[in-house]
Amino acid sequence: MEEKDLVVLLNEKRVFKPSKKLVENSNVMKWMKKKKIKSYDELLKKAEDIEWFWNEAAKETVKWKKPFKKILEQENNYSKWFNGAKYNIVFDALDKHKNKTKTAFIWEGEPEKEVRKISFKQLYQEVNKLANAMKKLGIKKGDRIGIYLPMIPELPVAMLASAKIGAIHSVVFSGFSALAFRERVNDEAAKLVITCDGFYRRGKIIPLKKAADEALMETPSVEKCIVIKRTAGEKVDWNEKRDLWYHEIIKKEKPECKTELMEANDPLFILYTSGTTGKPKGIIHDHGGYAVGTAITLKWVFDLKDKDIWWCAADIGWITGHSYIVYAPLILGVTSVMYEGSPDFPNPDRWWEIIDKHKVTVLYTSPTAIRMFMHFGEEWIEKHSLKSLRLLGSVGEPINPEAWMWYYKFIGKEKCQIMDTWWQTETGNHCITPLPITDLKPGSATKPFPGIQAKVLNKEGKEIINAGGELVLLKPWPGMLKGIYKNPEKYQKTYWEMYPEIYLAGDVARVDSDGYFWVQGRDSDVLKVSGHRIGNSEIESALVSHPLVAEAAAIGKPHEIKGESITAFVILKKGTEISENLRKELIEHVGKEIGKLARPDEILFVEDLPKTRSGKIMRRVIKAKVLGQDTGNISTLSNPEAVEELLKAK
Ligand code: WT7
Repeated sequence: MEEKDLVVLLNEKRVFKPSKKLVENSNVMKWMKKKKIKSYDELLKKAEDIEWFWNEAAKETVKWKKPFKKILEQENNYSKWFNGAKYNIVFDALDKHKNKTKTAFIWEGEPEKEVRKISFKQLYQEVNKLANAMKKLGIKKGDRIGIYLPMIPELPVAMLASAKIGAIHSVVFSGFSALAFRERVNDEAAKLVITCDGFYRRGKIIPLKKAADEALMETPSVEKCIVIKRTAGEKVDWNEKRDLWYHEIIKKEKPECKTELMEANDPLFILYTSGTTGKPKGIIHDHGGYAVGTAITLKWVFDLKDKDIWWCAADIGWITGHSYIVYAPLILGVTSVMYEGSPDFPNPDRWWEIIDKHKVTVLYTSPTAIRMFMHFGEEWIEKHSLKSLRLLGSVGEPINPEAWMWYYKFIGKEKCQIMDTWWQTETGNHCITPLPITDLKPGSATKPFPGIQAKVLNKEGKEIINAGGELVLLKPWPGMLKGIYKNPEKYQKTYWEMYPEIYLAGDVARVDSDGYFWVQGRDSDVLKVSGHRIGNSEIESALVSHPLVAEAAAIGKPHEIKGESITAFVILKKGTEISENLRKELIEHVGKEIGKLARPDEILFVEDLPKTRSGKIMRRVIKAKVLGQDTGNISTLSNPEAVEELLKAK
């Protein structure tokens, strides 16, 4: 199907209303009836009383071991929710299900015949065994655990075991390089690392232990490394003093372990994400507020019920997986699908096969994946029925209306509403998102979730509609970040400096006359490539760490499938000759420094780059020039002639 036909089908003003059945049976509507709330508008209005609303949300999702003293305390842009409550997220995510034979995870390995079904009871026992083993290794409350694992069931097990004993986990996406993993392990001074021998990706084995070994060459804080055996015989190097096989250390452990009683505001995990500088920041989330925020959003947005088969097709290495593969589904006690491999392996219909096989009812994925499937063509979908699906979701980047329509028509068969959820690593849970009761406009994440107050402001801090501006959140919410690890200055500067006491998301958005939000993308210093957040300066730092590079500027160009692609302008050190080999070497160098996901699609050599008088490279000007847009006033640059030179880049 041609894109233009989809656009015709779309017709700008078309609104997609939920069916009566969806509305009437939805979790949110049932709750509204109980509370005598008559409409969506009234719900949003009532939830402006955030203390009332979030306490109600807590009652719907979690059980404190000891009640809180105060719902909300705010100080210096830090918010403490449910302070005084004794809690551990593991009570709700695991312990309360300890006797259930219901399946928690249906795991599909990439090699097609491999399927594992893990019940809540088995998960409980496995976590306890690992938790006991970790305690024997001397892991205590507050210690950091670096987890470098692919999409295998032992990843949630490792996270839950850490949480259970009060340790803080920090999962690093298995696609990140050894050096990126090392940087994070050192920032948090992790005591223990958990990894595996290797995993399957497009039919090949990725040797993860090898990368972990490289990372651990310079990580003084790490005492032990637990290794899961995932493959059938991938050879690994072994450090007798440091390395331990997972299957060996859990063998002797008991399937019971006491859950550490924490404060609701104690940290649960650190997850690194990109920002405006070359160094990623460690976002901290806690036990209590995060549990409430993730569970209530999953329950209401994706409307999950006991019988649903939920598939959040993200990687657990990102916040989407933390919140909506691990914690929220477990708290709600629903069955989740988890898939190890690539969406197009061995064929582009692997996902549709999985959906039919396990009768998935709700699917949550990214615009990049949807555009990739569009590109493969409908014939791969038509082989499957997909009739079990009842609701769809999108996350990670703006979804263009064409991709939205395609998803609606070919995957949802025009009967599934699409929940386009806007949120961030920092927000912990969905913030701007439809509910099953919301009328949809393709391309819009619609309205704030109840209890969230979003606005778009201009530079002066005035609220604006029908024009692009800064997306902000006016009031705190329980799932919000609890700080940046060991970097309070950055926390203040990044989120709270531009508008005092208002959370700055770092996204450009527009609100239309109906109050619908249209998120356009990140501010200029963060890229979104295939939904992955990468700082322009991270790529630049990686490039200038190469001995032959003097200076570099990375920009994003619109890309049909990935959303954005990376173009890097490079000034080489004097006397260096340009060659195709050098170009390839630099691309690989970025891959080694950060990971494959950050490799530039294009490297262009230049003699000079436009700079301000203080020497700052003007990415905005470079981007405008490359895209053929207005570069604005460039007369204040120290070298305006460099702008025209960009077009002569080799
Ligand atoms: C950034 C956050 C949220 C989990 C995955 C990404 C962009 C996210 C949407 C959406 C438009 C979106 C924003 C945001 N983004 N969801 N539905 N529509 N843009 O988490 O890596 O922290 O990235 O992703 O730019 O700020 P993240």
